[in-house]
Amino acid sequence: MSCADCHDPHGGTAANNLRASNLNDLCFQCHAEYQGPFTFQHAPVVESCTKCHTSHGSMQRSLLAVSQPTLCLQCHAGHHNGSGIPLLNGCTSCHSSIHGTDIPSATGGSVFMDK
Ligand code: HEC
Ligand code: HEC
Ligand code: HEC
Ligand code: HEC
Ligand code: HEC
Repeated sequence: MSCADCHDPHGGTAANNLRASNLNDLCFQCHAEYQGPFTFQHAPVVESCTKCHTSHGSMQRSLLAVSQPTLCLQCHAGHHNGSGIPLLNGCTSCHSSIHGTDIPSATGGSVFMDK
């Protein structure tokens, strides 16, 4: 993409001359599937996509700021399931709807596992 897909060199309403009124709205212009409101929101996603992603590129897949599971362990304690299956594939191998969902988990609320 070109810089001007996201930045307006002559100004822009948001900080960093972004072409949107706020950072998440910029991302939603091209990634609308993550725009809620969802019944079950994941707080950092609502706050800012850059809680987890770097806009300009990354050494990690999916433009993640840090790789899994470290990404999630910044804010959550890790855990194992009852049968001790190791978490080698990262937290989103189970918590796959991490950007939010309308579908509740078995225990009520949501642990973002419906996809
Ligand atoms: C996909 C959208 C996107 C594209 C494309 C993009 N940027 Fe950015 N840029 C951002 C966002 C969002 C921020 C706000 C800082 C952040 O990431 O939290 C930003 C911040 C900046 C900043 C100020 C903060 C910093 O990181 O220094 C500069 C300078 C900048 N961009 C330059 C560029 C240049 C030059 C290009 C093209 C090579 C470019 N950007 C392409 C989204 C983009
Ligand atoms: C002008 C359109 C546009 C904007 C604005 C935009 N993106 Fe993207 N983004 C794309 C395209 C095109 C791709 C590559 C094709 C794809 O994977 O869908 C992509 C890919 C991605 C990927 C996946 C990369 C991978 O390796 O799989 C992430 C994560 C992402 N964007 C996050 C963001 C975030 C966060 C913002 C806001 C700061 C943003 N995008 C703004 C167009 C955009
Ligand atoms: C809590 C951390 C977190 C936040 C905040 C977050 N994401 Fe993600 N995102 C992820 C993770 C983790 C992946 C990789 C998922 C995987 O590999 O299963 C991902 C993958 C993606 C992808 C590429 C995969 C796909 O489904 O195409 C896009 C695009 C994306 N995110 C966009 C966004 C946008 C837009 C926002 C802000 C509205 C956002 N993300 C906020 C954690 C986050
Ligand atoms: C920047 C901090 C932050 C990051 C990074 C983050 N989360 Fe969260 N997450 C939260 C907050 C805040 C909540 C809502 C409060 C709570 O229930 O703990 C939440 C809620 C959750 C919940 C629901 C918890 C419950 O008890 O209902 C799950 C599951 C979850 N996050 C998984 C993840 C996974 C997996 C990742 C990595 C892809 C991740 N989170 C990354 C801050 C974060
Ligand atoms: C093998 C699948 C699986 C993997 C991998 C996994 N989880 Fe979970 N996680 C679950 C299940 C199932 C629940 C619901 C447990 C319940 O409701 O009693 C859960 C619940 C949670 C919760 C909410 C309840 C709590 O314990 O506070 C958080 C937060 C969470 N996981 C974070 C993570 C993080 C961070 C990782 C990566 C280090 C991760 N999970 C990896 C299956 C998984």
